[in-house]
Amino acid sequence: PAAPDPLITTVQDWARTLGDGVQARPYGSPSQYEKHVVRRDVEWLTASRESSVNFTPLHELDGIITPSGLCFERHHGGIAEIEPGKHRLMINGLVDKPMVFTVEDLKRFPGRQNHAYFLECAANSGMEWRGAQLNGCQFTHGMVHNVWYTGIPLKTLLDEAGVRTNAKWLLAEGADSSGMTRSIPLEKGLKDCLVVWSMNGEALRPEQGYPVRLVVPGWEGNMWVKWLRRIEVGDQPWHQREETSKYTDLLADGRSRRFTFVMDAKSVVTNPSPQAPLKHKGPNVLSGLAWSGRGRISRVDVSLDGGRNWRSARIDGPVLPMSLTRFYVDFDWNGQEMMIQSRAIDETGYVQPTKDELRKVRGVNSIYHNNGIQTWLVHANGETENVEIG
Ligand code: MTE
Ligand code: CO
Repeated sequence: PAAPDPLITTVQDWARTLGDGVQARPYGSPSQYEKHVVRRDVEWLTASRESSVNFTPLHELDGIITPSGLCFERHHGGIAEIEPGKHRLMINGLVDKPMVFTVEDLKRFPGRQNHAYFLECAANSGMEWRGAQLNGCQFTHGMVHNVWYTGIPLKTLLDEAGVRTNAKWLLAEGADSSGMTRSIPLEKGLKDCLVVWSMNGEALRPEQGYPVRLVVPGWEGNMWVKWLRRIEVGDQPWHQREETSKYTDLLADGRSRRFTFVMDAKSVVTNPSPQAPLKHKGPNVLSGLAWSGRGRISRVDVSLDGGRNWRSARIDGPVLPMSLTRFYVDFDWNGQEMMIQSRAIDETGYVQPTKDELRKVRGVNSIYHNNGIQTWLVHANGETENVEIG
């Protein structure tokens, strides 16, 4: 028999006295022992804090929903702190009846909907185009979050205003200091875009666009205008800064791809990963996330030997269109070195490419739309690093 474990045989501090009563924490926070689970930024990445980004701690999360306080933030002019009573959403341009809505007006529309969708910044993994750079899935893949939204279809508002027959494009505009503006094809706006006021069951966080944000399922995060104040209807795109100098993809021959809206299928192993090394030999659970802007994930393959052999991962939890999907591989680790990769396949049959396959088509001048396969090298001591193999 082993020596008695004092953690079992002695009374611990938390059992010696009564704990906090109800209402000591009217809005709850995570345990004080979870303080390391936070959004993090990379200081040298941007010149200012107001036009910058931080990253979701994917390696600390499970399931498919991102807790509201951990959703990565990407602002071009800082967080607008909008008083909801003073917020207005205008619909103008090629409409029969230009309209202005208050937040209260939006909440009275029939046809309210709930959806979980991923939002991925087109620049996610953008630092990795020329080779492995950032050590941790939080930094290589953390410009993605997956939230339950409540709102109304954008179509409802467009129908109310009466879109003219020559209309083809929408311009979404934010009320923040950056005045973020993006052109969106009318067809997409009518198909599945939402105007939302709620995330994960409560009001949007200021960081995510309180009081009203546009949701553009499956398409690049830049189009999901936060603090949404105006939708203009037009017959051609506006060619704003964010769709000309930014969010275009410079190719090897000097030409640029434009209006590359859809986020192609992608996946990443979140555990193990550089911030979450392997600690135990024997049975282990590998876990990761897969997503596709074209619909549902149909399969995820995982390799432990750098892409030589693949096995299908076990998908658990709901597989929703244009939502993060959780996968697992239960495996035994005897201390061998591993090159871990994952490869997502979506319902259209699209297969996530290797980084080399991607570079053959796209060159290395791009920042945006890097959905290449990630490799983690697990050393014999369990430590894990970001590497690339040919
Ligand atoms: N909307 C406004 N009004 N201002 C912004 O700076 N950033 C865009 C988009 N919508 C932005 C915005 C970009 S580039 C991305 S990736 C997403 O919002 C980020 O959303 P998040 O902060 O909820 O992660
Ligand atoms: Co972005």
